[in-house]
Amino acid sequence: LKRVKTLPAGFVWGGATAAYQVEGATQIAGKGKTMWDDYLKKQGRFAPDPASDFYHLYPEDIELAKLYGLNAIRLSIAWTRIFPRGAGKPNQAGVAYYHRLFKCCLANGLTPYVSLHHFDSPQALFETGDWLNRNNIDKFVAYADFCFKEFSEVKNWFTINELISLAFSQYIQGNFPPNHRFDVTGAIQAQHNELLAHARVVNLFKSKGYSGRIGLIHVLQPIYPYPDNAANRHAAALEDAFMNRFLLDGTFKGAYTAETMALINEILTANHAKLTIEPGDMEILKQAATQNDYFGLNYYQPTFVAAYQGESTNVFNGTGEKGTSAFKFKGVAMHVKNPTVPTTDWDWNIYPKGLYDVLKRVTTEYPNSHTIYITENGLGQKEQTAGVGQLLSDDKRIDFIDQHVAALLKARTEGVNVQGYFVWSLQDQFSWANGYNKRYGLFYVDFATQAREIKKSALWFKALGATLKPNA
Ligand code: BG6
Repeated sequence: LKRVKTLPAGFVWGGATAAYQVEGATQIAGKGKTMWDDYLKKQGRFAPDPASDFYHLYPEDIELAKLYGLNAIRLSIAWTRIFPRGAGKPNQAGVAYYHRLFKCCLANGLTPYVSLHHFDSPQALFETGDWLNRNNIDKFVAYADFCFKEFSEVKNWFTINELISLAFSQYIQGNFPPNHRFDVTGAIQAQHNELLAHARVVNLFKSKGYSGRIGLIHVLQPIYPYPDNAANRHAAALEDAFMNRFLLDGTFKGAYTAETMALINEILTANHAKLTIEPGDMEILKQAATQNDYFGLNYYQPTFVAAYQGESTNVFNGTGEKGTSAFKFKGVAMHVKNPTVPTTDWDWNIYPKGLYDVLKRVTTEYPNSHTIYITENGLGQKEQTAGVGQLLSDDKRIDFIDQHVAALLKARTEGVNVQGYFVWSLQDQFSWANGYNKRYGLFYVDFATQAREIKKSALWFKALGATLKPNA
């Protein structure tokens, strides 16, 4: 009954990871602290070690990835393994680790797609304002330059992962350090500054003539009015401007269009917030806008919204599990439930058509996005080991991935240039504010023993992968 029978020739079929979510080993081999280390310790809910212990077990996970039909892997470099305080002298043990890791990927026929920043700012820079401090942009550019020069075996780069999730979680939702709520100035400024950091790195990559491809990763969350009426449509346009459009404009147009700014300014006014753009910023964005080689698109779910003029409130118990959150953003929108759409254990909407919609939108409105890779998509749920000799049946995940790949292939047949799909995630990982009980992997991880267990979705992934040419 599955929809997808074969993958197109040359398709990239990968699994995604992120350094802080899989590596563990946060205090060895000279690694510096990220903004999460002290924060998690103080919270006392979850420890970042050993996570999936990928720092030590990468050969096993890469072997599994190869065995189960993957031809690519998404990884991120932990900035603090290379520069423990974000800048200064490189830590050779960290440099050597990533050479070993990339070598292992390549030896197993997995093309590495590598991000430089995945929610893990160095603590030393976080303390000086993280992305809100423009001096930290210079440090990021220097770190990127070092990586391009050093890791010439990597040919596919991404600068920053999900600029909006970082800005939103840090300054609006408040579930990432520094836990600010509805600090609209912080959130919009972080978006702009991260775009600037991305653009400066792209411009440097091109001007220095590094070989390979570079881009960034945005998560796109289509915002639909519910019910569909004029007031809710305007609310949807506002939330879309804040969550998607401002960043897409900045990335691929190198300019925030007048229409986008009208919506953003309406939000800023309602929240007494402001955005500072310094002279020269827009020229930097403009120069980068046509130089991205590709676009990493993460997609999980859409949001359904209604108009909202009251005070901002965010009921959130810290885990986001079913029925625990209510989100109302003053002068923007409130999130509502569309009862016709099924949801996950974490109340995330399951809506494959949203992926089709964002792919079509990007292609139509942002032609500079060129080639698209789905760099994350997957289902997070609670799971338990099936026990020795048993197969962990995650049929819901298979169904989820199958429906989303089908949506992607439909968009492709209609001219969208999408060349690959990375499932989030390769193995079970540390899920930030959710800790360890939200599992996404093709491979189950027993975090106590670090044993890996195959899920049924891995077999399904392998079967589809087999419709591609085998790894060289
Ligand atoms: C993306 C991130 O936001 O979604 C991942 O790039 C993250 O790091 C994933 O883990 C799923 O979100 P969550 O909160 O369920 O882990």
